[in-house]
Amino acid sequence: MTPRATLLTHASQLLMLQGSAAPRRGPAMTDLGIIEDGAVLIKDGRITAAGTTDELRPHSKNTEEIDCRNKVVLPGFVDSHTHPVFATPRLIDFEKRVAGASYEEIAAAGGGIRASIHGVRESSADKLAHHVLHALNEMSAYGTTTVEAKSGYGLDLASELRSLEAIRQAAQHWQGTLVPTLLGAHVVPPEFRDNPDEYVRIVCDEMIPAAARPVPQSLSRARRGIRAPQLGANLGNDTPQKLAAYVDVFCERGAFTPEQSLRILRAAVAHGLKTRIHVGQLTHTALELFSEFHCASFDHLDNLSDADIAWLARTDTVATLLPAANYFLGLTTFPPARKLIDSGVAVALATDYNPGTSPTTSMPFVMSVASTHMKMSPAEAIAAATINGACALDLQHKKGSLEPGKDADIAIFDAQDYREIPYWFGVNRCSKTILGGRY
Ligand code: NIG
Ligand code: FE
Repeated sequence: MTPRATLLTHASQLLMLQGSAAPRRGPAMTDLGIIEDGAVLIKDGRITAAGTTDELRPHSKNTEEIDCRNKVVLPGFVDSHTHPVFATPRLIDFEKRVAGASYEEIAAAGGGIRASIHGVRESSADKLAHHVLHALNEMSAYGTTTVEAKSGYGLDLASELRSLEAIRQAAQHWQGTLVPTLLGAHVVPPEFRDNPDEYVRIVCDEMIPAAARPVPQSLSRARRGIRAPQLGANLGNDTPQKLAAYVDVFCERGAFTPEQSLRILRAAVAHGLKTRIHVGQLTHTALELFSEFHCASFDHLDNLSDADIAWLARTDTVATLLPAANYFLGLTTFPPARKLIDSGVAVALATDYNPGTSPTTSMPFVMSVASTHMKMSPAEAIAAATINGACALDLQHKKGSLEPGKDADIAIFDAQDYREIPYWFGVNRCSKTILGGRY
């Protein structure tokens, strides 16, 4: 049972990341607002004060105290790009790649995203929700408190809506915050191989309107098969009555063309849904093509021109980098994080948790890869995994920093210095995660 008020005390380092109504850029990414012997006061699920233990000690009456000696306390990670609705791992793809085949070769031979369709089409919403919930629990064990979750392996109307319903069900049983995204345009399913534009029409005319429609009350309540929630759903979108807050599209060779992507994103806007894009993972697409959408984020961005970077730096769109996918695909190239940050682009990091390119739920692992392979400093990696991730989901008003008024989403690491978070890899040093004040 979590008390009404909790006081965290004596943190070796408290990382506040305060003062961020907009994403961090350039040198501001390294300003973590570190307080030594730090303390945080939590009441009714919100942060009410943060400072030194001496400053907050007078508030300790009637609070449960958590001693954070030898711990680093920071905002819970915001994992702003995941694909958790799938039925089984893709072990054949994995073996083929280890034997030398590329991601695109495996997809052309019947593997890749299409290999995950059958499992999702055959699974009930309850079964998918169990998978999603399992992933969410793993994520929060690594310090993540907010997750963007995409559909995208059902690829027909019923299966995409069932995938979104599974996300909604899982949200009712997890204490963190979920942001649901429709990714009906992940790849063209086999039955539309010869008529991809008809599939695009279905995404635009059927899936998007259905995902944007108000959800009947019966779907909002606890479902059979999963233990009844104690505290109710926590969907981070401001329109929780919809199945999806965002529409995403995989704009890429072998997936959707820029022209098809524009049609899909225009349909999203017409139905009041926000937009984000997988773009530049395998090949280059000029980003300015998508300027009309003011997308919350562009994700992957392995292939960028100088013109893209200069344009991105002038926008509020966050560049969400997913280096665990490069790691898992065995690539030696990574998105140009240094160039992006040094040019003033707002950079976020996310896991891209999915069965094909990034089967990891660990934000600290992603941060480690970002530091080692993309030369992001540990401080930049932390800003990218917290406040900039919150901006990528338009949740910066309540997530991503430890400031009075924000949700009490907090990760506590068994470390004395924040640089240890990306330093120790392949092990979990997160000792406690507080989700909306609950732990
Ligand atoms: O973000 N790029 C597209 N989607 C995923 C891969 C999905 C899969 O292979 O299952 C990604 O890497
Ligand atoms: Fe992805």
